[in-house]
Formats: sequence, C-alpha cells, structure tokens
Amino acid sequence: MDIRYVPEPFRIKMVETIKMLSREEREMKIAEAKYNMFSLKGEDVYIDLLTDSGTNAMSQEQWAGVMRGDEAYAGGTSYFKLVEAAQDIFGYEYIQPVHQGRAAEKVLFGLLMGEGQYSISNMHFDTTRAHVELSGARAIDCVVAEAADPTVRAPFKGNMDIVKLEELINKYGPDKVKLVIMTITNNSAGGQPVSVQNIRETSEICKKYNIKFCIDAARYAENAYFIKQREPGYENKSIKEIIKEVFSYADMFTMSAKKDSIVNMGGLIGIKNDGKLFQLCKGRTISFEGFTTYGGLSGRDLESLAIGLYEGIDENYLRYRIGQMEYLAGRLDKAGIAYQSPVGGHGVFVDAKAMFPHIPYNEFPGQALAIELYKEAGIRTCDIGSYMLGNDPDTGEQLHADFEFTRLAIPRRVYTQAHIDIMADALIAIKERANTVKGYRITWEPPILRHFQASLEPVK
Ligand code: F0G
Repeated sequence: MDIRYVPEPFRIKMVETIKMLSREEREMKIAEAKYNMFSLKGEDVYIDLLTDSGTNAMSQEQWAGVMRGDEAYAGGTSYFKLVEAAQDIFGYEYIQPVHQGRAAEKVLFGLLMGEGQYSISNMHFDTTRAHVELSGARAIDCVVAEAADPTVRAPFKGNMDIVKLEELINKYGPDKVKLVIMTITNNSAGGQPVSVQNIRETSEICKKYNIKFCIDAARYAENAYFIKQREPGYENKSIKEIIKEVFSYADMFTMSAKKDSIVNMGGLIGIKNDGKLFQLCKGRTISFEGFTTYGGLSGRDLESLAIGLYEGIDENYLRYRIGQMEYLAGRLDKAGIAYQSPVGGHGVFVDAKAMFPHIPYNEFPGQALAIELYKEAGIRTCDIGSYMLGNDPDTGEQLHADFEFTRLAIPRRVYTQAHIDIMADALIAIKERANTVKGYRITWEPPILRHFQASLEPVK
C-alpha cells in the first residue's frame, strides 16, 4: 500500500543552497575523509542525515525571538519566558537552562550517584552513559527484548523491561541503584516510543524501592504523538495533556532541546519539587555553564527555545513530522528493504545486516552502508552498530552489537518529499548491487568514542 506524504504545514521563506558533487568527487572526498562520516566537510554533503540534533529549521517566530532576546547577564526577560513555558508544559516547579543535553547530565548526575552505584535505563544514550560513568557509577540498559528484532512490529519497542528492572534492582541492591532513566523516545533502539503504562509502572517500582526517576526528554513530543496514535485511552487527549501525564510520574528530567524543541542549541534540567536538589544544581550550573539565568546560552537562544517548546508539541507539525518517517518507511517496505520497524520518531534505522549478509560485524555493515549512501547520492548518515560500539575495555576485542543499523536521522522542517524520495531511491539502488559491497577495517582508532575520529579502509 502506498503511504501518502503528509504535506508540510508551513511554506518556505528562506533557503540554503546545497550542491551535489559528481560521483567521482564524492568517491575522492570519502577516501580523503578515511571513510569517516564525521571527517567530511558539510559543504560536500548533499543531504545531511548525520543527526536530527541542532540541525532543525527555526520558524519566523523563533527568528523574531532571536531579535528580542534579552542579553542581560542576570534576570533577563528571555529567561523568565523560558521558565514559564517549561513550567506550563511539563508541570515542574524548577527549571534550569543549560547549553545542551550532556550539560544537563553533567550538572545533575554528579549530584545523584558515585562510585559503586548504578543507573538503570531503557537505554542510555552515549553521552548519558558517559556522564553516569564519569560520576563513578555504572550504567545498565534494560530495554524490552523485542527492541533487538527489527522485524517485530510492536507498538512500544522502546519500553523498559519491567520484570528485568525489578530483578536488576534486587541484584545490585536498592540502596546502590541511585537513578532510573527513561529515554523517550528510545534513540539507540531506533527512536522507538515508550508507553504511558510503561512509564507509570517504572515509576511505581522506583517508589517501591525509593529510587529517583529521571526522564531523558530529548524526543518527548514525538513520544507523546506515538502514545496518542497507539495507546488505548489516549486517542482523544491533547499532546500537551499526554506530556503532562508522562512527566507527572518522574522526579526530574534532563533534556537536549536540540531535538524536539526545534532549536540549534540548548538544554534543560527540570526538577518536579525537590528544592534542595535544585539549589545544588544551581551551584553546579554556575561553575560549569554560567549564571543560572542563562546557563551557557545567549538570551536569544533562551527566547527561541521558549517559542520552540510550543511549536514542537503542535499536533499538525507532529503529524507531518512522523508522516515523513512513515512515507520513507513505506517506500522501503515496497522495495523489501529491512529497517527497525515500525519506523521510529526521528529517523529510519536501516538494517544493514539484512542488506549485507556477507559482511561480518567486525567489517562494519552499518558503516559500509553509510559510505555507500554518500557515494550513491551524497547522503551523510551514521553507523549505529558494532563500529559505534567499539572494543571491550578489558580485552580490547571488537564488541558484537545486537544490531547493525545505518541511521538516517531526519532534521526537523528541513527536507522535502523530493529529498525523501532521493533517500529511498539511493537505498534501492544500493540494494540492487548489495552483493558487490565490501566491508571496512580500522587503520587507526583513539581509545574512547572511536567512531568520531577513526580512520578506515575497504577490505580487499
Ligand atoms: N539523550 C539523548 C536520547 C540523545 O539522543 C542525545 C543526543 C543526548 C541525550 C545528548 O544531547 O547532544 O544535546 O548533548 N543525541 C544526538 C544524536 C547527538 O545524534 O542522536 P546533546
């Protein structure tokens, strides 16, 4: 069945020229970049799907807000406008702006856990895991089993495995587990949503064992839209009502505002009602980020974020946004191209293991497909698989990821239907010559977060 493209609920007032290099030029550029997507220059990319983070297009209201931004060092009007908007949407008393999501993690996590303690999440995003570990604690993932099978079409593949969560708490000790984090949507599992029921049940377990419950809220609006579409009892609720209920179950949230809040830079910490914890956060914000009323951002950033928070929860916008994913996924279904299904909220995670069954995990099928997409159509994507996972810190052996995805992360309000068709056409062309595509090996790598900097070469 053809899925119709949901028309953009906006028209275009300002444009940015992009260009497509010739195939020969692209082959040269990617070889010069040592087959690392992060080493390509932005200007050599035709369609940039490396991330949906900070790559969104702001509206005319947001740009007007940029002009109105109050740059006072302390007590600027843009700060109060932002706090008011966040209080209104999330229902939390305390709101602290910071410069991006990982800054929120850095400020908050060091206050909550340390050596010999644990954080459990449906899935920690890389930087979230890094900040748990920098605090001295350990990060444990606890996602439902169906997340690991791209072919299983479950409605909430991002959920926490509730039974396992309780087992893990008892295994490590309720006094040692200091934080439970619910990542909505679940980025690493493919932008998969988490249900209200699962969030409520997780919250009940946290209360039972007296453990703090935090939401990683980067894609909270897309998650709310999926709840409205898929969870019985929520079809007639507004997106804002769903968000209010979701956040009512947690004690705090960290947020990268560079995703669903449709800005290019920004983050938030929200604390429901723990004034003491908020006071401690303010102290750390001042030393790490800047004074509390700007938190590492310009007044203009605070102003555009206050507006973006509302634009990101507009249902017409979300229908178009998720519709764009569904349209692309529909074209892949027709062509028999496997991806994490049903499609998630911020991109299509193509199953590179299924596309290249002849490429073993340690020759990086997800990275091989990313390189082919660049060569085929100048599209930049990234590997979410063994290449990104890296080596075992104890043995130095290459780890074997549960899945080998190539992530096509779609920036918000940036690309049109024609661009989406180019993405689908490129994947179809690659599938037709899939058996000729070779794997890659690493010729140089740094010790941590290697995928950002490593050099590769094709396997002979
Ligand atoms: N949490 C989640 C779920 C994320 O996806 C990200 C970033 C962060 C936290 C950190 O936020 O970048 O503002 O510091 N994800 C981006 C991505 C980078 O490409 O998925 P940040």
